Amino acid sequence: MKTRITELFGIQHPIIQGGMHYVGFAELAAAVSNAGGLGIITGLTQRTPELLAKEIARCREMTDKPFGVNLTFLPVLTAPDYPGYIKAIIDGGVKVVETAGNNPQKWLPALHAAGIKVIHKCTSVRHSLKAEAIGCDAVSVDGFECGGHPGEDDVPNFILLPRAADELKIPFVASGGMADGRSLVAALALGAEGINMGTRFIATVEAPVHANVKQAIIAASELDTRLVLRPLRNTERVLMNSATARLMEKEKALGSAITFEDIIEQVAGVYPKIMIDGDMECGVWSCGMVAGLIHDVPTCQALIDRIMQDAHHIIRQRLEGFVG
Ligand SMILES: Cc1cc2nc3c(=O)[nH]c(=O)nc-3n(C[C@H](O)[C@H](O)[C@H](O)COP(=O)(O)O)c2cc1C
Repeated sequence: MKTRITELFGIQHPIIQGGMHYVGFAELAAAVSNAGGLGIITGLTQRTPELLAKEIARCREMTDKPFGVNLTFLPVLTAPDYPGYIKAIIDGGVKVVETAGNNPQKWLPALHAAGIKVIHKCTSVRHSLKAEAIGCDAVSVDGFECGGHPGEDDVPNFILLPRAADELKIPFVASGGMADGRSLVAALALGAEGINMGTRFIATVEAPVHANVKQAIIAASELDTRLVLRPLRNTERVLMNSATARLMEKEKALGSAITFEDIIEQVAGVYPKIMIDGDMECGVWSCGMVAGLIHDVPTCQALIDRIMQDAHHIIRQRLEGFVG
């Protein structure tokens, strides 16, 4: 399949694996890229720029296909060493960066000078237009369904994607709730030129996370995620578990007076314990409503092949049949 996204990134299929904290290691990024999609290493999961440089080198040993690095610009007072991370990306010869969080404008000149394409993840049309205006090459439009941070507007992809298509000139991918060939065809119909998946890629053979995490996704239905941290205007869609229940009780009791310190136990430093150790109740972790569509743990190659085959079948047989 050929779209502006496959052309821009030099990939075979219009399928991207979004950056995921403590999931987006070299093993997963390489597996997605080897299967013809675009794999992405999560920059900030590597604690220092030196460790990111090593992770990029490790990924390059596992694939000769293009892969990217996610840089998430966090709303924190003490910022990570972003210049150091960007140097590691440029020196590592990476050609795609997925930015997320705050506006990436400050970093674009250095990335573009190194020939790097930038795709910015946005949860609204206004942020997507801003990304286009500052010179991003593409946008990942992340609807309300998504795992992680859906923003504060709560617009689902059936509205958000066609709205983005009406306004944007640069290509965009649909992110949030994408799982299979149906998702891809629907996204293309709504104006996107590919899909970005997070949760679906966690339940794959190569995702280097504990088996408990993959099982939790398979066991979950579309009813099992919750929105937390809304009072802090940092809304996150997470899987329901006992830590999520405790956090929600605190949010209810404290209302708008809640501070980060009140919930530190449920959110700080929990990702390695969940993703690596499989301690599923120790804290809250991002998960999309799309869990309801995930029932197996295929290899990335099998997953991407299935998505592309199903998409072709839907377009050529089902849709063509309606109009033919
Ligand atoms: C466990 C997990 C961790 C994530 N961590 C990040 C992150 O560090 N940076 C980021 O930009 N997005 C992060 N995301 C969001 C994904 O990149 C992607 O946008 C999102 O999962 C898409 O929605 P889906 O889960 O419905 O496919 C994370 C998502 C999950 C499920």
